[in-house]
Amino acid sequence: MPIKTKIIVTGGLGFIGSHTAVELYFKGFEVIIVDDLSNSSIDVLKGLKNITKSNLIFEKIDLKNKKSVKELFEKHVDIKGIIHFAASKAVGESVQDPLKYYENNLISLINILQEVEKLKNSISFIFSSSCTVYGEANNLPITEKETIKKAESPYGNTKQIGEEIIEDFSNSSDSFKAISLRYFNPIGAHSSNEIGELPIGKPQNLVPFITQTAVGKYKELIVFGDNYPTSDGTCIRDYIHVVDLAKAHIKSLNRLLDNKNSSNYDVFNIGTGKGSSVLEVIKSFEKVSNQKLNYKIGSRRKGDIIEAYANTKKANSILNWEAKLSLDQAVNSAWKWQQKIQ
Ligand code: UD1
Repeated sequence: MPIKTKIIVTGGLGFIGSHTAVELYFKGFEVIIVDDLSNSSIDVLKGLKNITKSNLIFEKIDLKNKKSVKELFEKHVDIKGIIHFAASKAVGESVQDPLKYYENNLISLINILQEVEKLKNSISFIFSSSCTVYGEANNLPITEKETIKKAESPYGNTKQIGEEIIEDFSNSSDSFKAISLRYFNPIGAHSSNEIGELPIGKPQNLVPFITQTAVGKYKELIVFGDNYPTSDGTCIRDYIHVVDLAKAHIKSLNRLLDNKNSSNYDVFNIGTGKGSSVLEVIKSFEKVSNQKLNYKIGSRRKGDIIEAYANTKKANSILNWEAKLSLDQAVNSAWKWQQKIQ
């Protein structure tokens, strides 16, 4: 049997990490899942085992701990790639507790790269970045050439700084190649209904708030403002099915592993290219669930971007990747998942 290419997935029990672990497994990679369970559940591992019918390797590790990271890499010296998701991601919390964000998101990244530097293998690295790096963009749809402005939150800043650290490191090393993927708004769940989004506490994001309201956890959804300069007055986002997003990671990883990259570092927007308003997402939910959602219009949320959707031409042509699943399919999968976990 050919030896499988070993890949570490940090944050592999999180929302995007778990879906990516599944896609990697089915593409024939050996997947090492690393997670500290700080914002994820060990039940996700059961879901992954049910989907893959396999015992995936799981390492419970806090990546802020240098010694643990050293041990992890000494144990898996033969890895060829790392997909790095592990990070804190709540924008509001990052404003309240910026040091937690700089420590969690940057110290862990540096710890990993310091161990990568010691490896003999060439390493392909995929970084989980965000469209948040663009803030309120000057041009729509947003291309990778859009100006990166000062981050609006410590969370966003950790993504900007993370990208810079990775780019600098890739320029300093012949054996380290990296791609940053700037995600737009990931939603949805796996078609098996074994894994999906598991927000801890009150969800901040639109789709989990819609589905949790629909199962009665919340009385109503507040639409944060309907007086924006958009078609129906509500904000526009590019909602992408998490499985489409997961697949973009495999394409990116393979590009680096196959030495098809033209430079040591590159960045891609990962979205559908289509903007949807808050009211359109609600309509999509009402259609796929065949029920009315209890919602009302409230005031604007501080810091909200009016409109953000991706120009995906670079990912389409260079990664040969495109989002295939529709908003209705994504919302429907999120709804099925919510009904299972409620
Ligand atoms: C949020 C984060 C962003 C992160 C992204 C990843 C904030 C300010 N930004 O972005 O940094 O990269 O998630 O998923 O948290 N909405 C409502 N009612 C609600 C919840 C949301 O009307 O109860 C609206 C929002 O105003 C927004 C849209 O739904 O227009 C999407 O909101 P959300 O899911 O929080 O995503 P982002 O704001 O794009």
